[in-house]
Amino acid sequence: MLRIIFLLSLIFALSNASVQDFCVANLKRAETPAGYPCIRPIHVKAKDFVFSGLGTPGNTTNIISAAVTSGFTAQFPGLNGLGLSTARVDLPPKGVIPMHTHPGASEVLYVLDGYITAGFVSSANSVYVQTLKPGQINAGKSAAAAFVTFSSASPGLQILDFTLFANNLPTELVSATTFLDPTLVKKLKGVLGGTG
Ligand SMILES: *[C@@H]1O[C@H](CO)[C@@H](O)[C@H](O)[C@H]1NC(C)=O
Repeated sequence: MLRIIFLLSLIFALSNASVQDFCVANLKRAETPAGYPCIRPIHVKAKDFVFSGLGTPGNTTNIISAAVTSGFTAQFPGLNGLGLSTARVDLPPKGVIPMHTHPGASEVLYVLDGYITAGFVSSANSVYVQTLKPGQINAGKSAAAAFVTFSSASPGLQILDFTLFANNLPTELVSATTFLDPTLVKKLKGVLGGTG
């Protein structure tokens, strides 16, 4: 009898063993540190798990001659809560992705076409840089493209140049912390849309 009750309770436990496979983002609601609230499963469609945004090159007519097309939760709601995301990088010759950090994720870079010199500076300021064949300055003579994946659905992106020059942090403070001449700081603020 005890065994039967145990078995029954086990079956009951198994039948209730629910794993939440997904949490398609409700982008109409505010994002929280744990991601977006989920839309109700009854409203989830196969297309919520499909993203076609990485199939075409991004527009590289800009100051960095490069395009990053993101497949983060905001563009690809099916990723919400799944702990990964993706992006496409397009780099014509001379294109650069400025130094940046992704506060919420680690990153893998996979070169599709061309040559890309990519790397990072460690927290100990050691430099790890390498030219990758068919990953970010395009060192070749032809356009390069790469896919990147992140270990978070919301990797975040903080671009060093913007952090320093695209806001209203006063020129004298930027100058004091970067050791750059104030005239140069003002010039860079002008180029990147900063004030002060
Ligand atoms: C690319 O961006 C530039 C600068 O914003 C714009 O002038 C141009 O029309 C865009 N090209 C395409 C194909 O959207």
